[in-house]
Amino acid sequence: MSKYLIEDTRKVTTLRLKEMKEQGKKIAMLTSYDYTMAKLVDEAGVDVILVGDSASNVIAGNTTTLPITLDQMIYHATAVTRATKRALVVCDMPFGSYQVNPTEAAMNAIRIMKETGCDCLKLEGGEEIIDMVKKILDVGIPIMGHLGLRPQSINKYGTFAVRAQDEDEANKLIRDAHLLEDAGCCAIVIEKVPAKLATQVASELSIPVIGIGAGHGVDGQVLVLQDMLGMDRGFSPKFLRRYADLSNVITGAVGQYVTDVKNVTFPNDSEEY
Ligand code: KIV
Repeated sequence: MSKYLIEDTRKVTTLRLKEMKEQGKKIAMLTSYDYTMAKLVDEAGVDVILVGDSASNVIAGNTTTLPITLDQMIYHATAVTRATKRALVVCDMPFGSYQVNPTEAAMNAIRIMKETGCDCLKLEGGEEIIDMVKKILDVGIPIMGHLGLRPQSINKYGTFAVRAQDEDEANKLIRDAHLLEDAGCCAIVIEKVPAKLATQVASELSIPVIGIGAGHGVDGQVLVLQDMLGMDRGFSPKFLRRYADLSNVITGAVGQYVTDVKNVTFPNDSEEY
């Protein structure tokens, strides 16, 4: 028996996500961007690994997700799929790779699927990208939508504040969620909106709604791995729960190594040939 809560050891598919919603089983999703972390995350029983364009912030140190390229996303996703046995691997389509027209969106989507071996793609937006969503789905590629706070549109918002707090934006979000479901999306991520709204959307849709900063009334949760492991001391939004304090663990270990090297206590006799 695994020491982790893995009720079903089969490879997670988009169909399985829908079954999980029907059976009232919550979906656990986390980001990963590299082989080493994805292997651990998969072993620990996460249902969905998101190769998020948050790699732009977390790995490359950019302030937004906008700069990350298609080639860079493909590099990250390929490393993750090599490590993953059970989880569904979802790759973000980066900013600029799907918004212009359906043909270009489909070409880029095909390229990601061919070169990375991932299972599904995630795109930000509703009505404004619906033609691209439909074209990619027509090609046979599953799509996870992303509504609420859409980091690729951060320059338009000008703030990372909670979205859809007014009636107009809330109503648009509900309409967009239905549009994405009707088009054939397999799930939707909803980021940083009032819990009541996210709960309503999850109850109206038959596809899973996975929340980040959207309360517990949805069908699953997603967090950025480095954030939930406590690797960024400076990032502490209200919705984030830290499950470890790796900043201190890592700086402690590295500091000890530096001390040992300088004091010539590493390597010792048993650590040499
Ligand atoms: O890129 C990402 O990490 C995401 C999550 C915040 C859902 O899209």
